[in-house]
Amino acid sequence: MFVLVNLKTYPCDPVDVATAVRDVDEATDARLAVAPQAAHLERVAETGVETWAQHVDPIDYGSNTGHALAESLADAGADGTLINHSERRLKLADIDGAVEAAERAGLETVVCANNPEQIGAAAALGPDAVAVEPPELIGTGTPVSQADPEVVEDAVEAARNVDPDVSVLCGAGISTGDDVVAAGDLGAEGVLLASGVAKADDPRAALEDLVDPL
Ligand code: G3P
Repeated sequence: MFVLVNLKTYPCDPVDVATAVRDVDEATDARLAVAPQAAHLERVAETGVETWAQHVDPIDYGSNTGHALAESLADAGADGTLINHSERRLKLADIDGAVEAAERAGLETVVCANNPEQIGAAAALGPDAVAVEPPELIGTGTPVSQADPEVVEDAVEAARNVDPDVSVLCGAGISTGDDVVAAGDLGAEGVLLASGVAKADDPRAALEDLVDPL
């Protein structure tokens, strides 16, 4: 299972969490990665953890003030990038352009979407993976795998119908090892989560619990 920890703009110490993610990754068969804010990418990548950007813009070098250029994210140490997160939505044409920009810079891609219908459209753009996250469950601590298992199953099927090679992650409310196992049982190859680790009193213990049953 792939466990991708999004730090959003939570006030956690990104290097501390990244170090915990790196250590837990080394101690388990699961694949763990962390997505800090763009401003923290370099410091996080220096820990040696697999590092992801939270967003990339569909642009090339040039006059694009305030944008995130894929090549600069890669230079800062990003291995991959989220695209179209629920809190950073893009238009369809821009998702397409962002996937292209990420691929140009050698970044792995996860395109997020709200529901199985959008997952099908996202998979058609050729990312490495898609992630289904019902927005109403984000940050609630109620796992999508429990509250809405059909969303995960239908997303897996929707992605497979379009491209059997695209991996499917699920996210929203995931905070325990049981949630991760349940996601896997529904066909997801990974989970995208945030508050369960970034807002935990002890992020390392939260990570250990997440991978314990894997
Ligand atoms: O990107 C992960 C996310 O949106 C889910 O957040 O806090 O419900 O794990 P959370």
